[in-house]
Amino acid sequence: MTEVITDQEQAFLAKLPTGLYIDGAWRPSSSGAEFEVLDPATEQVLARVADATPDDGEAALEAAHRAQRSWEKTAPRERGEILRRAFELVTARADEFALAMTLEMGKPLAESRGEVAYGAEFLRWFSEEAPRIGGRYSTSPDGVNRLLVVKRPVGPCLFITPWNFPLAMATRKIAPAIAAGCTMVLKPAALTPLTALLLTSVFEEAGLPPGVLNVIPTTSAGAVTGPLIKDSRLRKLSFTGSTEVGRRLIADSADQVLRVSMELGGNAPFLVFEDADIPSAVAGGVLAKMRNGGEACVAANRFLVHESVAEEFTAAFVERMRSFTPARGTEPSSTIGPLVDAATRDKVDALVSEAVDDGANLALGGRRLEGAGYFYEPTVLTDVPRGARILDEEIFGPVAPITTFATEEEAVELANSTPFGLVCFAYTRSLDRTMRLAEELETGMLGINAGVVSNPAAPFGGVKQSGLGREGGLEGIDEYLETCYVGISDPFASRKG
Ligand code: SIN
Repeated sequence: MTEVITDQEQAFLAKLPTGLYIDGAWRPSSSGAEFEVLDPATEQVLARVADATPDDGEAALEAAHRAQRSWEKTAPRERGEILRRAFELVTARADEFALAMTLEMGKPLAESRGEVAYGAEFLRWFSEEAPRIGGRYSTSPDGVNRLLVVKRPVGPCLFITPWNFPLAMATRKIAPAIAAGCTMVLKPAALTPLTALLLTSVFEEAGLPPGVLNVIPTTSAGAVTGPLIKDSRLRKLSFTGSTEVGRRLIADSADQVLRVSMELGGNAPFLVFEDADIPSAVAGGVLAKMRNGGEACVAANRFLVHESVAEEFTAAFVERMRSFTPARGTEPSSTIGPLVDAATRDKVDALVSEAVDDGANLALGGRRLEGAGYFYEPTVLTDVPRGARILDEEIFGPVAPITTFATEEEAVELANSTPFGLVCFAYTRSLDRTMRLAEELETGMLGINAGVVSNPAAPFGGVKQSGLGREGGLEGIDEYLETCYVGISDPFASRKG
């Protein structure tokens, strides 16, 4: 296994932007401070990035505020074409984006390439939505007045994005905002700022005017974004991350009654019914669990398997989980990289140990790997007792707890028995059951015989404590539009004398 950053990687890293991007210019932090970005596979320093201060945050918001008026007057087609050019550029530079992501976040290159395609697609999708922003004209029911419904951009936005999908979670917010005519300040995760900065350089090349996108990586998230959330120039906050942080941000947004979009935590149940095609359920289950190394809010967090097929499913699932090769994501053999940092790895380890102490059976894995990097073995737990913490909390790692159920009613009750409602997965051949699940599961998304539902053309988002709003799909642009109703009094009144 490569345990050092290679010369070739150093040369690549040396060319990546590492400054703040404010009002169309790259600049150092106003304090001159920088922070280190680490490779989670080697624990070595990849780069030093400018560490934004509250003053930099203020400058970024001021730039976004100043640019708002002219940006919203830019023709929708032109906004769409900038997005289209950004899509072409990201796609042409897919290898660079993939390498940046793998180095700073850890996932295997093949997965990073998948994220490049996924992330770029938001740019293309919303390039096509920009010229289609509509409104409405109608006659009031009494036939007297005319009702005009106008859509306008919300205004300057603040985006706080996570480390697990450093490209796609940024494009999923930036693209609809650009399409709608909003300006923005982006604070990418401090663990993975390099991908966001590379994306910023692509927007610069694509011709995005100064001030529309301002990017401020920082290690002082609260101190930098807190004042922006309280500032009347800001009109919207969109956050992807934990429910705990989301709840605080919603509370902070209340002062200004900000529009908020929150894509928060999940606790996805993966249901395998007695009529499921078991090989497909195993393949889908592995995908739902192991995509992004389990570091996804949509990752299957609890496997609920009908008792009549539990043995067959578990045996095949364990074998598929055993076949993963943990290695640095740049290694051709790697099918799972490290977890993003020591805290994430330690939390996963603690959840597994506690479950075993509570009586769960360790069918596979259960250990952190020795040596450099935050690697954790693909792990399967069976007979996990109800009430175990691992069934209640987002695992965010390659660990699959399996439990059983006897009836569909019990499966639905278990699936719904959490404060979260982001996504559910279900394997069944029954159309009737599918329809019942679609109506009874408390979830924002439901995958039927599918281990991945994420799709730029579909509305991504959750119910209950999994969030507010939708990203992607036809719904995605609405998050960036205000509705203004214009009531026009009887246009024929003057003829009536
Ligand atoms: C997330 O985990 O935050 C998003 C995953 C996805 O878009 O599929």
